[in-house]
Amino acid sequence: MTINKTFKPVLVILGMAALFAFPAMALAGKPDPIQQDKLEHGKKVYFKRCVWCHGVEGGGDGPSADRLFTRPRNFIQGTFKIRWTDSGQLPRDEDLERTVKNGLPGSAMPAWGEVLSDTEVKAVVQFVKSLVQDRDFQDEDEDMELMDFGGHANGQNPWGVSGPYFKGVPQEAIDAGKEVFLKNKCFECHGGEGRGDGNPTMKDDWGFPIVAADWTQCWNFRGSRRNAFDPFNVVRTVSTGINGTPMPNFREKITVEDRWKLAAFVNSLCPRKKIDPLVNKPVTDFLIKSKYTAGVVAPNYDDPMWQAPENDNRLPGYERSEEYVNNGGDQYWHYIAMGGQITRGERNFKPKVDNLWVMSRWSDEEQAVYYLVEFHNRFLSQDPAFPDGVAIQWPGQLEDLFGAEKPYFIYGDSKKPVDIWKANFMAKNYDPTNPPNPDGYDLDISVKELVGHGFDQVADKEAAGGVQIVQSKFHQGRVKIMFKRALNTDNPNKTDVQFPIASYIPVSFMQWSGAGKEHDEHMAISTWVYTILEPALPASLTYMPPIMAVAFFGFQLWLVRMTRRTRQMLADGKWK
Ligand code: HEC
Ligand code: HEC
Repeated sequence: MTINKTFKPVLVILGMAALFAFPAMALAGKPDPIQQDKLEHGKKVYFKRCVWCHGVEGGGDGPSADRLFTRPRNFIQGTFKIRWTDSGQLPRDEDLERTVKNGLPGSAMPAWGEVLSDTEVKAVVQFVKSLVQDRDFQDEDEDMELMDFGGHANGQNPWGVSGPYFKGVPQEAIDAGKEVFLKNKCFECHGGEGRGDGNPTMKDDWGFPIVAADWTQCWNFRGSRRNAFDPFNVVRTVSTGINGTPMPNFREKITVEDRWKLAAFVNSLCPRKKIDPLVNKPVTDFLIKSKYTAGVVAPNYDDPMWQAPENDNRLPGYERSEEYVNNGGDQYWHYIAMGGQITRGERNFKPKVDNLWVMSRWSDEEQAVYYLVEFHNRFLSQDPAFPDGVAIQWPGQLEDLFGAEKPYFIYGDSKKPVDIWKANFMAKNYDPTNPPNPDGYDLDISVKELVGHGFDQVADKEAAGGVQIVQSKFHQGRVKIMFKRALNTDNPNKTDVQFPIASYIPVSFMQWSGAGKEHDEHMAISTWVYTILEPALPASLTYMPPIMAVAFFGFQLWLVRMTRRTRQMLADGKWK
């Protein structure tokens, strides 16, 4: 932690200890004045990197602003979200520098740490400060108070547990934190299980719609600071509030000790997954293992057979028992990254959903496969013209593909058709403004089988392969849908995927959020990953065959390309 000039005299008085542990009381001071000598340099950086989103005068109205949700910040009012200072106050230079380096995950604000040097970051921060018109960093009346975090910050905590996963927080702290959560009614905005589904009608100070954070996707916290599982991020948020949003400051209502317990609880809801530093989100599981089941598969995701870490007792990853993991529980629960479709047709730069969880089983006795697909979406559609949807896409003629060959990832191509299982649904008797419904909502759901021969060449199958929806539900911001199909079909047109045992089968996913008016190609997509129906004895699966290595590096490349393409389009101002 660097300590800036303004606070040094105070710290000296408090003694050396203050340099190692953050002092328990709030520190009063004044904002860091604008460093005029850096403005020229900062302006150059800004007009090269930031103007596309933040606009020429910092009004948050650059050429790409309209396509982003959350919108780029308007700097004119001097409202900044992630700070160590009190609600409503200006940030420290250090807060802004960290934001520029680490980005604001869950929004379009990129992490510039790898692109800009430290000198450039410091300079551009001074320039951003100079764009603020409604406040004055030099004003005598601008106070700045550093919040009290109980002597711990940035990776430190009362339990001495450390990153990257911060495992080992005592259960009593988590339980006590849950009480603090209930008492302070965080659920009114964040929903009964923390998926951000509490209130669909909030607006931010700029008049734009805003939703509460989904605590089970802590890597999307604006202030995750590339350390998603650090409970300090939660303590900071609860202590400072988030300026410009309905997220209040609880420093007077909740003691600092209780804020740490609350953080322990909030933090325990976020499943521990390895974070890909490239995109600041969990690493995609590019192999979906379909678990061998000798008898029939339970058509019910509450059955122990389908136990998943997020199921109702909501055990975070690190607390799953050895037994559970050894019985294959954890490794059968797969995270699939989704991105907006921005390649062709009506593009989607701001999909509401950016990941799915997938679990699969196949039954020897039934000769059938089951795929349980889950995703978080705070609010569903009530408009039949825009139903919600999710689809699984397969190569239609798997047997004709060689090696790592795959159809084009959006709807296939003329030579390599795809088989698409698409479920459309609306929740019954649902209204997003209803009070939390612990029973969840049943879905009005139908499944369609489509064959794709290219972008504009998607048609209903002449003879469907018999895909069924076995079970479906929307519960506190989470959709669950279980698909089932026979391993083999006798479709004369060869438009159904046939499932061989123990071979790598490409599969990808698509998702439409009706509340976000997503439809047709205006959707979220994944790249191709693989699935494999495990043989009775899955011994051969413990090493990574060459084909999987190819798939993995292909996926990494795809991610890098998607990220670069977005940046390039921004730089060129080409968003259409
Ligand atoms: C791709 C668009 C985009 C680009 C390019 C971009 N930003 Fe942002 N920025 C955003 C968005 C969107 C937000 C608001 C996110 C939110 O409010 O949750 C934001 C917010 C910010 C904030 C407010 C932080 C806070 O705590 O509230 C700062 C400071 C900032 N950007 C600085 C920069 C700088 C400096 C650059 C150039 C080096 C830059 N941005 C480039 C999209 C962008
Ligand atoms: C009045 C509504 C409201 C209440 C009550 C509320 N929050 Fe929030 N919270 C929000 C909103 C809105 C956001 C998203 C802000 C954004 O996206 O910039 C948020 C964001 C957060 C975040 C993510 C911060 C980040 O870095 O992005 C955390 C953690 C959080 N809240 C914790 C809590 C806790 C704990 C409580 C209860 C003590 C609580 N909130 C109560 C509205 C609320």
